[in-house]
Amino acid sequence: MSSTLHKDGRLNPSTETTNDSGNVSIHDLIERRVVSRRGFLASSIGLTAAAAAGGTMLDAITNPAVAAPAYGPSPSPTGSIGFTSVPPNLAATFADAVTVPQGYSARVLVAWGDPLDMSAAWDPTTPMTEAQQLRSFGSHTDGMHYFPFPGGQGNVRGLLAVNNEYCDPPLVNDVSPATDYSDPDFEVTLPMVRAQQAAHGVTIVEVEKGRNGAWGINRRSPFNRRITGNTPCVISGPAAGHELMKTAGDPTGTRVLGTLNNCAHGYTPWGTYLTCEENWNGYFSNETGDVEGVIDIDRKFQIIKGQTRYGVVKGGFGYRWHEPDARFRADLNPNEPNRFGWVVEIDPWNPQATPVKRTAMGRIKHENAQVVVGADNKVAFYMGDDERNEYLYKFVCAKRLNPAGRSTDRDMLDKGTLYVARFDANGTGEWLPLVHGLNGLTAANGFRDQAEVLVKTRQAADRVGATMMDRPEWIAAHPVTREVYMTLTNNSRRGNRPPSSNRVDGTTNAASANPPVDAANPRPDNDYGHIIRWREHQGDVGATTFDWDIFVQCGDKATKKTLGSSYDPTGHDGYKGNIVGDDYGAPDGLWFDKDGRLWIQTDQVGNATGDWINIGSNVMMCADPRTGETRRFLTSPRNCEVTGCISTPDGRTMFVGIQHPGEDWTMSFTQNSTWPDSGVNGQTLHSHKDPAKPRSGIVVITRDGGGVIGT
Ligand code: FEO
Ligand code: CA
Ligand code: CA
Repeated sequence: MSSTLHKDGRLNPSTETTNDSGNVSIHDLIERRVVSRRGFLASSIGLTAAAAAGGTMLDAITNPAVAAPAYGPSPSPTGSIGFTSVPPNLAATFADAVTVPQGYSARVLVAWGDPLDMSAAWDPTTPMTEAQQLRSFGSHTDGMHYFPFPGGQGNVRGLLAVNNEYCDPPLVNDVSPATDYSDPDFEVTLPMVRAQQAAHGVTIVEVEKGRNGAWGINRRSPFNRRITGNTPCVISGPAAGHELMKTAGDPTGTRVLGTLNNCAHGYTPWGTYLTCEENWNGYFSNETGDVEGVIDIDRKFQIIKGQTRYGVVKGGFGYRWHEPDARFRADLNPNEPNRFGWVVEIDPWNPQATPVKRTAMGRIKHENAQVVVGADNKVAFYMGDDERNEYLYKFVCAKRLNPAGRSTDRDMLDKGTLYVARFDANGTGEWLPLVHGLNGLTAANGFRDQAEVLVKTRQAADRVGATMMDRPEWIAAHPVTREVYMTLTNNSRRGNRPPSSNRVDGTTNAASANPPVDAANPRPDNDYGHIIRWREHQGDVGATTFDWDIFVQCGDKATKKTLGSSYDPTGHDGYKGNIVGDDYGAPDGLWFDKDGRLWIQTDQVGNATGDWINIGSNVMMCADPRTGETRRFLTSPRNCEVTGCISTPDGRTMFVGIQHPGEDWTMSFTQNSTWPDSGVNGQTLHSHKDPAKPRSGIVVITRDGGGVIGT
């Protein structure tokens, strides 16, 4: 049950086969490029050195690439790492705990179902109700941002805005064994679905450091808020009010109920939170393979292909919402799926503010949205579309940021240019504009106007010749150099036979192509993933060209696994990777701290078997981007993902998300994990009794003596 809902960690089955072909190594491929990795690194260091000397850094401090850490010390572009690695959490001694280096503590801050007000806590031995969930922390925590309170209290008091990506219905509805939920004879009722929808979305919660030095949530805060799968949202930008956005429930095409599958996140320099809709397709079902009320065969074909290009199919991921809630019947309501897949802007400081879906930023399976502000106050957001063979995007705002007080036009995200990336083998790349009338984005090719380009962002990117990537996950920007890094988590279809590409006419079913290796995605069967990075031409965030290289290829130095026979061995140099330091794979979460340390979170199956037998549970790594040196900072409980990382502005308190501990509850809810109510990372509301269910949650990490995390 759970693995169909959380596909991320399980896309690559462990295939132990042998293949002794004479592969072209990745090193050979990279060496063929005009700009070598060494050259890229050398100039990166040069930029950093210039920053240290006061040149670039002056710009960076007055106009940082990431939102101003208003209350911390000035950024030091050192990136040095000062802790001792924790050992991997391996199956033989499989700990069900968050473990951090000696001298650090990790304690649970909040977990799914904890009340956000003074009402009684939910009893995890019972079903969650919609009413209870609406006043409680949401399910399966993911991307998050910390908004400091103004003045000197910002390092000890702030708002956490947290994504609640999805839920597991059996956990919410208390259905055990969990497999019962997928039994056709099991009735899924509307109250059950409403409780699940209420577990999705975003939680905003005030957090503070108490007099005893321990962090907690403030249950009396007026800022605490849930935004769910049924919260009214406004649709803005070019697609607002378009024919493709209108439904029976919303004939105006400007208001939609809810935001779903809020995976990773972003923030803006003007103080708002961005939540990004990822695997929203999984909630919809086209039960009949048809479109009700549409007679024209060509139009029907276009709608069906538009759905399958985004993975809207019969049954979805198995949530079964469409049974009692016809809104999720894609055959009956073909435009309802068009109202998901957007970046949603939320003002965390105004609990009454209506979330806004910003259509100018494109409709994809959004991972995160990383802002970079140029020295000239141009504003760009980088965004990945997380599915095999999908693309990297950039949105450049039409207006520049007003640096005075960071106050600016609240509709900055409604006007601008959306681009998609093409990575060329010579180490350069081009941002291809997705603008109606350009590059074949015309009515003759199915794009009647800019709104249609945006609703059909994937098809537009297919048309202009973007580079298919190995599942773009998070993107992070260096706080000083403005270099941008992106995790490419894995791709079981890269290099598979027979080769095929996303068709230029946009009719490819989601994730069905088998692209050959290329310079930016150089490994067939990319089990362990890699991290790519780029620098805009002349440092201009609005540039249409860039330089890129591969920062690291992840892997397992001790693996004996060889490439399967169904793959083209060209370009394969094994699964060992080239990590300088501790091994990891399936990079997903990515975040730069104020000093330029790169924090990498992973999302593999998390049970320390198969491909992960030497790597263990999921982890959070810390890397020095100058040298590539990488150390294991955190190991996670059993069968979970580590996702979401942010610190207070001073870097002395870090918040890290633990998602779906104990995933796979075929036998019982606690068969794999009792985290966090076991109390292993501190007391919870339920740790005084037998844990009933594992719960996604957030830990607070601090350093003994109060030092900066990572140094
Ligand atoms: Fe929800 Fe791509 O991670
Ligand atoms: Ca993932
Ligand atoms: Ca992710």
